[in-house]
Amino acid sequence: MELHWVWMSVATLLASYVLVNKFVRRLNGWYYDLKVGNKKTLLPPGDMGWPLIGNIIPFIKDLSSGQLDSFINKLVSKYGRSGIYKTHLFGKPSMIVCTPEMCRRVLSDDENFKVAYPKSISELFGSKAFTEVSSAEHKRIRRVISAPILGHNMLALYLARIEEIVVDSLEELSSMKHPVEVFTELEKIPFKVITHVFLGSHNQPIVAKIKGLFREFSDCNPLFSIGVNLPGFTYHRALQVRKKLFELVISIVGERRLMTKNGQLEDKKDLIDILLEHERENGDKLKDEDIADVFIGLIFAGHESTATGLMWSLMYLTQHPEVFKKAKKEQEEIVKARPSSQKHLSHSEVKQMVYLSQVINEALRLTNIAFSVFREATTDVNINGYIIPKGWKVLVWSRAIHMNPEYYPNPKEFNPSRWDDYNAKAGTFLPFGAGSRLCPGKDISNLQTSVFLHYFLLNYRLERMNPEYRVPNFSYSYPKDLAKFIKISA
Ligand code: HEM
Repeated sequence: MELHWVWMSVATLLASYVLVNKFVRRLNGWYYDLKVGNKKTLLPPGDMGWPLIGNIIPFIKDLSSGQLDSFINKLVSKYGRSGIYKTHLFGKPSMIVCTPEMCRRVLSDDENFKVAYPKSISELFGSKAFTEVSSAEHKRIRRVISAPILGHNMLALYLARIEEIVVDSLEELSSMKHPVEVFTELEKIPFKVITHVFLGSHNQPIVAKIKGLFREFSDCNPLFSIGVNLPGFTYHRALQVRKKLFELVISIVGERRLMTKNGQLEDKKDLIDILLEHERENGDKLKDEDIADVFIGLIFAGHESTATGLMWSLMYLTQHPEVFKKAKKEQEEIVKARPSSQKHLSHSEVKQMVYLSQVINEALRLTNIAFSVFREATTDVNINGYIIPKGWKVLVWSRAIHMNPEYYPNPKEFNPSRWDDYNAKAGTFLPFGAGSRLCPGKDISNLQTSVFLHYFLLNYRLERMNPEYRVPNFSYSYPKDLAKFIKISA
């Protein structure tokens, strides 16, 4: 009898929760319908979630558990394949767009959409010099940054240094007696590369200090913070670390400015020197704060993203022996065809790594850290018959395209051969974004991964401590995978 009452109470509670949940969500939906007035009939399907918090809880839950696809899949199964869904995330009414046409449309329309990352993300990771300036100034800064890192000819200049960083890192990793945390170790490579592009090889102790602060920052796991800037909250701690980092970089910029003034610099200019010389639209020079902001923005944008790509490429290779074999053979052939006098990788050899580039593309398709980019409509925009009201955020969810079987049959499968003679339809492969904000670091990132995999495939193997562990197709909480790097040849 008592058990019967327990079941009755549980069932009543559950039923009440379902009803209240449904009612509150509907109420919130009506609120936004009311706000957009007679345009409400043009809003796409979707669900605005709970008042104020919207759908952030299921979003964070799916993101942190590595099941982000289920967030979109639920929308598709509930509302059909409209390719655009209304929702409420990061405290704002938002649209998710996930067809190649719509994503491209948003990314290429700078007149009606502006970059708008959630405040908590832009304050921690963003660079004001990239987002809070006129579009003309953005173009100019972008040109300055891109000049040394975009395009194969420019990158040829960095190849030797990247090779040195990779060879030393692998040597060091293989000399370690104990298993290492794969991601933490690999992350050091792009960090060294970006600081080299920015600062040259000066200031090694300071570079180590910057790295320490970045580690401290990452340990806060700020992406999952709820953006409360009060003592005791993760976001607050991450902001404090960012402040320390900013002060440290300001001191480096100040020091370099002084050296330039005193003529103590060599002829070769690093990015920091180029930025010190850069003039704004109005003829003013950039302040030290602006340059520090660009540097921090570059490191945030470029080191964890590249490290993620490196790690997944390596993991997938070790999980797919047939792919490993084919990729290794390609590298062996490249080295075999090399004149005996040549001791180092050449840029034309990197260009011959066709299969390896397919491995990298496939890893980026499956695991890209930038699963979505953020915009905001600056006016009411009509897109495929639906309206995106002015002020609403737009999440350009490229991952949904990368995982769509229409463009990538059997999308969860790691299959570099799918890229053989593959002409990606426009907008179906967007790991680096598109339009005026297309990632300027894409070439240097791919170059680092290629050089790393070249040396790894030729001379090393990875002995994972837990080989049963399957790398999830997507995760923001990096698997703490322990492994040994074993050197197999000199
Ligand atoms: C696998 C590695 C990388 C991935 C997946 C990636 C992805 C992206 C994406 C999707 C965007 C577009 C953001 C938007 O439209 O709002 C972007 C922008 C950017 N990336 Fe990367 N990135 C990578 C590596 C790098 C590297 C190595 C650097 C620097 C050396 C870098 C610097 C930047 C900068 C400065 C922007 C802003 C560009 C602008 O606003 O004009 N990224 N990246």
